[in-house]
Amino acid sequence: MADPTGLSDTDPTSFSNPDKVVVTDIDLDLEVDFKRHVLTGVVNLSLKKLIDGVDTVILDTRDVTVHSVIDKQTGQQLEFVLGEKLPAFGSKLEVRLPTTAQKSCDITIKYETSPECSALQWLRPEQTAGKRQPYLFSQCQAIHCRSMIPCQDTPYVKCPYTAKITAPIEIKILMSALLEKSEPSPDTGKTVYSFRQKTPMPSYLIAIVGGDIVSRKLGPRSHVWSEPELVERSAFEFDETEKMLQTAEDLLGPYVWGHYDLLVLPPSFPYGGMENPCLTFVTPTLLAGDRSLADVVAHEISHSWTGNLVTNKTWDDFWLNEGNTKFVERKIVGNLKGGEKLRQFLAHKGWTILTETVDVLGKEHAYTKLVQDTRGVDPDDSFSSIPYEKGHAFLFYLEQLLGGPDVFEPFMKVYIENFKYKSITTADWKDFLLSYFYEQTAAGVFDNVDWDGWLYGVGMPPVRPRYDMTMAESCETLARRWLDSSEEQLTDFTYSDIEKFLPVQTEQFLATFLNHTPLSHAKIVKMRDTYKFSEVQNSEIKFRWLRVCIRAQYEPAIQPALQFVTEQGRMKFVKPIYRDLYNGKQAGLKPKSTFEANRNQMHILPRTQFQKVPVSRIIKISSTFNHRYTSYLNQY
Ligand code: BES
Ligand code: ZN
Repeated sequence: MADPTGLSDTDPTSFSNPDKVVVTDIDLDLEVDFKRHVLTGVVNLSLKKLIDGVDTVILDTRDVTVHSVIDKQTGQQLEFVLGEKLPAFGSKLEVRLPTTAQKSCDITIKYETSPECSALQWLRPEQTAGKRQPYLFSQCQAIHCRSMIPCQDTPYVKCPYTAKITAPIEIKILMSALLEKSEPSPDTGKTVYSFRQKTPMPSYLIAIVGGDIVSRKLGPRSHVWSEPELVERSAFEFDETEKMLQTAEDLLGPYVWGHYDLLVLPPSFPYGGMENPCLTFVTPTLLAGDRSLADVVAHEISHSWTGNLVTNKTWDDFWLNEGNTKFVERKIVGNLKGGEKLRQFLAHKGWTILTETVDVLGKEHAYTKLVQDTRGVDPDDSFSSIPYEKGHAFLFYLEQLLGGPDVFEPFMKVYIENFKYKSITTADWKDFLLSYFYEQTAAGVFDNVDWDGWLYGVGMPPVRPRYDMTMAESCETLARRWLDSSEEQLTDFTYSDIEKFLPVQTEQFLATFLNHTPLSHAKIVKMRDTYKFSEVQNSEIKFRWLRVCIRAQYEPAIQPALQFVTEQGRMKFVKPIYRDLYNGKQAGLKPKSTFEANRNQMHILPRTQFQKVPVSRIIKISSTFNHRYTSYLNQY
C-alpha cells in the first residue's frame, strides 16, 4: 500500500518515482544572490520513462519556489502540483509530462531557493577569515539537495550534471565538478562559470561554494582552496594528498574523477569532511600544523570509490558508504604512516568509539543497528558513529576470518569494479562477497558468521575482532597508571611519558579516562602541566582533554570549552561537549546562554531550530542531537 505521506517505496526518504521515470541528466543555470541569500534560475532535467504509460514525474523539493515548468522541446507550460511540506522531507513536486513524450523528454523548471534553504549557509563578510566578502557553501548529504534543486533526491538515482553559475565578480565559485570556463558577462559585469561533472553521481554529491577563495598546487591533480588567510597552512597540512591518492588507487583501482581538490571551509562547516566529487570539503579544525589530522583526507579520498562510485541505494545502507570508507581510510593511513601495527591500533580505537556510541545511544536503540530502517526518520537524526565503526569492525572481522589483507584486498578491488557507477543494497554486497569467496576459500568458512547479529542486531556486535595491541598498550597502560596513582605518586609523571606517542595515541590515552570515574583536580592540574595540554593545537586532542576536564567538574576548563564550541561548528566536537557541560553540575546554565549568544553564527539549521525550541530542552536531550536538530521540532 502506498505510504500516506507520499514518500516512495524505493527510498523512504524521497517522494520520487525513479523506478518509473528517471532523471538522466541535470543542467543548472543559476545566479547567486548574496543580497537576498537565494539561488535563482532554472534546472533542466532530462528524463527517461522506464515503463509505458507513465504521465507524471515526481520530484523532491524543500522550501523552493517554483515559478514554472516547461517542456524544453516545445516551450509549452506543463502542469505541476507542489504538495504539503513534511518536516524533514519537504514537498513533493508532481509534474505532468508532455503528452508528446515517448521514451524521453526534457523539462525546464524555473525556481528559486529560500533564505532558509537547509543545504546552504550564507555567511556575512564578518563571519569569514578575511572579513571582506560574503561566503556561501552547501552541504547536501543526506537529503538537503532538494532544498537547492528540485530533483530526484535519492542515492538510488545517478546522473552527470552541468552548471552555469553567475556570481559577483569578487566571488570565486567552485562546484563538485570540473570548471570548463569562467568569463565576465558583458552586460552585468558579473562572472559566469561553467562546470561539468561527466561521471554519473547521486544528488547528495552536488556541491557549490562561493567566496574570496584562492588556491595552491598540492600535486599533479590537486589544488587546495581556502580564503587567502589560510591557504599556506592548508597547503602544508595536506601535502600528502597525492601519496594518499596513489595508495587508494593501488587498493581500489584508477581514480576516475580527474582532479582531486580540497576546500578548507570557514569554521561553521558542520562536518570533518565531505566527499564532494573533484572537491572535498574539509573543516579548518584539521589545520593542526603537523599533518596529524590528515586521516580525514584519506577518508574523503576513499569515498571516491566507496560512496561516490559504489553508492548506498538508500540511507538504510549508509554503512556500505561509511563502513567501507573507514576501512579503506585505515588501510591508507597504515600503508603510509605506520604499517599494519598502526592500522590495528586505529581499528582498536574505532572499537572504543563504537563502545562509547552504543553507551550513549543505549544498547537497545534502533540507531545502533548496522542496517537502518529510515522509514519516517530524518537521516540527520539517525547519524552517528555506528555505520562507521560497526561497519568497519564487521569488515575487519571478515578480513581476519577470510585470511587477512592478502585475501581481502583483491576482493575490495573486484567489488569496486563490479559495482562502480551503481547504487547497491546490503544484500547486493553480501551476495557478491559470498559468491566471490565461495570460489576462493574452504567450504564452511562462513558457517559461524552471525550475519543477522552483525547486520540487524542492536548494541555491540556479536563478536569482538582481534586487534594487535602493541600501540594501544603503551597509551592505555599510562592511563591506567594515572588512574591508579595516589596523589603523592604524581611526581613520577614527566613529559617523556608521551613524548614518543603519535597524536592518535595521545587521543586514545585521554579517551581511556572517559570510560572511568572522573579524575581528581590534582591529577587534572598535574596532567595539564606535565603534558602541556592547555597549549595543544590538535583539535582531536583538545576535544578529548576538555571532555576529561568537564567530566572532572574542573571549573577553569568551562570557559575554554565554551570557547571551543563557539569558535568552530563541527558537530562531532560540539555535541559531546554540550552534553558533558549539561551533565556537569558546575556548568550551571552557561551552555544555554552560550547557545543563545552564538546562534547567529551557527549553521543555518541549528539556528532556526533554536528559535523555535526551548534551548534548555535541546541541551537536555543533546545525546541525540546533531547539527540539523530537526527531531526536536517533531518531538516537542
Ligand atoms: N560523508 C561524510 C559526512 C556526512 C555524512 C555528511 C552524512 C552528512 C551526512 C564524510 O565522509 C565523513 O564521514 N566525515 C567524517 C570524517 C571521517 C574521518 C569519519 C566527519 O565529518 O567527521
Ligand atoms: Zn565518510
